[in-house]
Amino acid sequence: MDSFEFNKITASVLVALLVAMTGSLVSDHLVRPTKLEKPVLIIEGVEAATSTGGKPTEEETLKPITPLLASASVERGQAIVKKCTQCHTFEKGAAHRTGPNLWDIIGAKVAHAADFAYSSGFKDKGGTWDDEKMNILLHKPRAFVSATKMSFVGLKDPQERADVIAYLHTLSDTPVPLPTSASSSTPSK
Ligand code: HEC
Repeated sequence: MDSFEFNKITASVLVALLVAMTGSLVSDHLVRPTKLEKPVLIIEGVEAATSTGGKPTEEETLKPITPLLASASVERGQAIVKKCTQCHTFEKGAAHRTGPNLWDIIGAKVAHAADFAYSSGFKDKGGTWDDEKMNILLHKPRAFVSATKMSFVGLKDPQERADVIAYLHTLSDTPVPLPTSASSSTPSK
């Protein structure tokens, strides 16, 4: 092949490359990503925290935790409560720290430990610890008792709260069963 032939081949290869490059540049401009108007994933609890315009109480806006208990994991809950051990012990008979010992807390009275100095708001609250009360406390302690001594930001992720509640259920000689225990109380995985 003579050099003219060779140049023709080189030129056509270059032209092909050029066309491919311009093509991709043009298409980048033609196809513009559109922004979603609404978030596709709405996370419970977070929404409530950001949109309290009309000031509904947390009790009204927080979604019930019971449906999430079915897929809660005791093991994950046990890992999450590491955040609490700075102030709480979870073992039977263990000492109080900044916060009271939490053995046998589900089904116990609010402010259950006779030898712990609770805030007056906590002492006067009344009632017993069930899943939904625990959900409110764990989401935002100050929504449960406004002047609580529990200075903890709370767990914003509802599944984390469900996991912790499932774990708290196990801390008893006579555990209060989870609402779904008949079908699926065995810790998954
Ligand atoms: C910075 C310390 C601190 C952290 C962290 C903390 N707590 Fe508390 N907690 C307290 C105190 C103090 C009280 C008592 C509240 C009062 O008297 O107002 C309390 C009270 C409680 C009670 C009520 C006990 C009763 O006898 O009624 C529960 C349940 C509880 N905490 C669970 C948790 C869990 C679960 C976590 C982790 C996700 C956690 N707390 C993290 C300090 C803490």
